[in-house]
Amino acid sequence: MKPQNAESIMAPAILVTGGAGYVGSHTVMSMLERSESVEFEIVVVDNLSNAYRSEGQKKPAPLRIIEEMTGKNIHFYELDIRDKEGLDKIFAAHNIECVIHFAALKAVGESVEKPLEYYQANISGTCTLFEVMRDHGVYKLVYSSSCTVYGEPEKLPLDESHPTGRGLASPYGRSKYFCEEIMKDLCKSDPKWVVISLRYFNPVGAHHSGRIGEDPTGIPNNLMPFIAQVAVGRLKELVVFGDDYPTIDGTGVRDYIHVEDLAEGHVKAIKLFKDPAFSGFHAINLGTGTGYSVLQVVAAFERASGRRVARRAAARRAGDVAANYADAARARRLLAWRAARGLPDMCRDAWNWQSRHPHGFRDC
Ligand code: UFG
Repeated sequence: MKPQNAESIMAPAILVTGGAGYVGSHTVMSMLERSESVEFEIVVVDNLSNAYRSEGQKKPAPLRIIEEMTGKNIHFYELDIRDKEGLDKIFAAHNIECVIHFAALKAVGESVEKPLEYYQANISGTCTLFEVMRDHGVYKLVYSSSCTVYGEPEKLPLDESHPTGRGLASPYGRSKYFCEEIMKDLCKSDPKWVVISLRYFNPVGAHHSGRIGEDPTGIPNNLMPFIAQVAVGRLKELVVFGDDYPTIDGTGVRDYIHVEDLAEGHVKAIKLFKDPAFSGFHAINLGTGTGYSVLQVVAAFERASGRRVARRAAARRAGDVAANYADAARARRLLAWRAARGLPDMCRDAWNWQSRHPHGFRDC
């Protein structure tokens, strides 16, 4: 239970679900690195389904490292967001002002095999979180969404008015779309809700210190960590999925965004909550606005790392679109945010992290 007069004695806090994961941990870092964020305590809940914790440690590796680097404390709870009682206790114990909701399963291919697990974790878990937020009078939310909600692009670049939910290729994508629809309904039901749904394009790279980064379990599904593991010698060669797309060199084009830029987008989003006139549901793309092909990324990575990345072309991967990149104008307008880092920075930082930690956080 909250102590009496809790509001007056407890510092305001930001709850970060999934804060030990890749984008979550970089966002926590970004908040704590900034002196203006000291007004907030950071509370992380994470079930550690995709985050590493060394034996005997209470906190997962990325959070321990962030505490060490910033000298600031992070409240950590090992908890699944479907645990309503557990969440309830956390909301009672802290003066939570807003929530950044990352916690979700995110492997597109796996979601096709395990739709129930994905809908349970991503939709059921999200609804449980929203119930607890409402019960505690917390209505400010930043949601971790994806450009996958747009499905096959009808036009490029993709702006936020592009239809969503059509022809989605996976339960993962549908779970992100359904959650957005749920949040729109919440905002219609009660004007107290303020929701910013950040639609990420392709997050890559690592913190510039090289101390935290992406640490996928098993063989990476995504391009950049796969390339990095080939470069460091953990994997033999990159399989390029499709070389016959109608793109610059036949390979798939994506809008890669540095994870530190993405993290800073969340920090800017939270600032909007200070404006009492800002209300309702807002979807905002976070991308650079520029697309690069698979082969362009490989070439940039080779330049950044000085290593050759062996590759071979293979058939297209089911569900992939030819090209996808953002119109990032709304983020500029609403958040006063724009991506500051380019593809060479993304490759340099991905390589810095990977070469220092060939086995991810196990090497920390
Ligand atoms: N690719 C390869 N070989 C690989 C991995 C990827 O050639 O081993 C290619 C893909 O075919 C695609 C590009 O690299 O052309 C990027 O693929 P990623 O798997 O890195 O990223 P996606 O664009 O497929 O997926 C990302 C996120 C998803 C999100 C989706 C929305 O990982 O969470 O964008 O488009 F749903």
